[in-house]
Amino acid sequence: MTQTQPIPFLTERPAWKALQAHAETIKATDLRKLFADDPKRGEQMRVEAEGLFLDYSKNRITAETLKLLIQLAKDSGLRARCEAMFTGEKINTTEGRAVLHVALRAPASESIKVDGEDVVPEVHKVLDKMTSFANRIRSGEWTGHTGKRIRNVINIGIGGSDLGPVMAYEALKHYSQRDLTFRFVSNVDGTDFVEATRDLVPEETMFLVASKTFTTLETMTNAHTARDWFLASGAPETAIAKHFAALSTNTKLVGEFGIDTENMFGFWDWVGGRYSMDSAIGLSTMIAIGPDAFQEMLAGFHAMDVHFRTTPLEQNLPALLGLLTVWYTDFFDAQTVAILPYDQYMKRFPAYLQQLTMESNGKHVTLDGTRVTYSTGPIYWGEPGTNGQHSFYQLIHQGTRLIPCDFIGFFKALNPLGNHHDLLMANIFAQAEALAFGKTAEQVKAEGVAPELVAHKVFEGNRPSNVILADKLDPMTLGKLIALYEHSVFTQGVVWGIDSFDQWGVELGKALAQKIVPELDSKAALPLHHDSSTNELIELYRSNK
Ligand code: F6P
Repeated sequence: MTQTQPIPFLTERPAWKALQAHAETIKATDLRKLFADDPKRGEQMRVEAEGLFLDYSKNRITAETLKLLIQLAKDSGLRARCEAMFTGEKINTTEGRAVLHVALRAPASESIKVDGEDVVPEVHKVLDKMTSFANRIRSGEWTGHTGKRIRNVINIGIGGSDLGPVMAYEALKHYSQRDLTFRFVSNVDGTDFVEATRDLVPEETMFLVASKTFTTLETMTNAHTARDWFLASGAPETAIAKHFAALSTNTKLVGEFGIDTENMFGFWDWVGGRYSMDSAIGLSTMIAIGPDAFQEMLAGFHAMDVHFRTTPLEQNLPALLGLLTVWYTDFFDAQTVAILPYDQYMKRFPAYLQQLTMESNGKHVTLDGTRVTYSTGPIYWGEPGTNGQHSFYQLIHQGTRLIPCDFIGFFKALNPLGNHHDLLMANIFAQAEALAFGKTAEQVKAEGVAPELVAHKVFEGNRPSNVILADKLDPMTLGKLIALYEHSVFTQGVVWGIDSFDQWGVELGKALAQKIVPELDSKAALPLHHDSSTNELIELYRSNK
C-alpha cells in the first residue's frame, strides 16, 4: 500500500467530526429551502460519466456536505485503497487474497499481477474457451448424447453463482437467443429443481454447475439431483460429458464429481462470489446474449472501472453514490437504501445488489478486528417501478423512517408500446419530486380538504433520492451500472475501514445445519444438545415430517 501514515479511527477523523456538526445544520433545513435558495441546484448537482447521468440534487446536502464527505474519503485513504485493489494487493486481508474483479474485464493489452503473475492472459484464455463453447451451443453445433441440439441451459448455483447470472439473464433477455430456454436452480428446496426441469427433455438439456468452491451444500445437492435426473432418462454415464459443464475454481472436485475437466471453465480465488458474474460464472449470460454482447458488457464494466480509478472524487459516480450512503447511514441513522429500477427487465437487480452490498459491508469490526462504534452496511432492498408504488411507497412517503432511494431509468424503451414509456418515466420524475418537496398543510387546505383529513394528506417531503438515467438498457449499460454499485460498495467499505470482501458471517449457520441434518432422522432419534427452543423445534419436525 502507498498509505504510510496510520489512519485515525473513523470517528476521530477531522472530516467525520466536521460532518457530525454539519449534519445538525442540514437537519435544520429542508430540500424545499435548498432548492429555493439555489435555482441552479438541479443543474449543478448532476454528473454525467460514461453515459450514466446521476442527478443527486434531491439529497439532503449542500456543497459543504460534499466537500466534507470527499475530505472524509481522502482521509480514509480511498485513493490508495483503490490503487491497491487495481494493482492486485491482497486487500482482502482476512482471507489473504487479492480482490481483482476489475481484471475480469481488463483489455488483453493490460497487465495486472498477483504474486508476480500477470492474470490478464489467463482471464482472456477462459473468455476464449467460453466463447467457443457458447457459440457451439448457440449454433446447435454442440449436440447432446442422442445427436439432438441443446435447447435448455440450466445454471445450478447459489449466491454469487446464481444471483448475477439470473439477474443478467433477466436484464438482457431482450438480447437473448429466444430458441434457447434458460433456467436457474439455486434453492436446496427440491421444488426449485423440480419446477425448473418438469417440462424439459434431458437429451436437450445442458447443466452448468456454477460454484466457486464446488463444495456448497445447495449447489452440490442440486448438481447430484441433476445427474440422477439426467441418468434416469436412460442416458449412459459417458453422456455426462455432453450435458454437464462446471464453472469453478476447484479442478479437483469438478473431476471427482464426474464432469470432464475439458468442460470446466475456471476462475481464481481473487474473484469474490458476489463479484463473479463477469467471470466463467457468466457462461449462461454469454450463451444467452452471445459472446459479442458479453464483451460489450465487459467493456461497460471496464469503462466504469477506469472512471472510478481516475476521475476526481467530485465527479466520480461510484464515490459520490457511496459517500451519500455513508452520509445517511451514519449521520441520519438511515437503516436502508431502496433500489427502484423503472424497467421490468431489471426486476432481479435489487436482489442482486442485496448480496453485493450486504455480504460486502455487513461487518461489525474494522480490518484490525476493532469493534466499530458507527453503523456500517445498510439494508438494500427494492422492486421495479411502477409496481412498488402500489405497495411499499406509502411508507417511504409518509412513514417515520428515512429511506434514501435510487431511481434508475432509461431514455429509450426496449419494447416501445403506445405511451407506456412516457408513463413509466413520468412516474420516476414524479416520485422523486414528491419525495423531495411533498405537500404542505397549506397546499392541502387550499385544495378544500376537510380539516380532519389535512394531517393525513400532508407529505412532509425532504426525503432524499438519486435519479440515475441512461440511454437504454443494453449489455454495456448493464456492465456500467453493476460496476457503479461495486465501486460504491468499495467506497463505503473503505470509509468504514472494514473488509468488504470476506463473508465469515455466513459460516456459523452452515456449520450448525450440517450438525442438525443427521438429527432430523426420526428413526435414529439422536440425543439433542441444543438450546431448549432448537431441541423442541427438531423434535416437532421429527414427529411430523
Ligand atoms: O455462503 C455464501 C457464499 O459463500 C457466497 O459468498 C457465494 O457467492 C455463495 O456462497 C456460493 O458459493 P460457491 O460459488 O462457492 O458455491
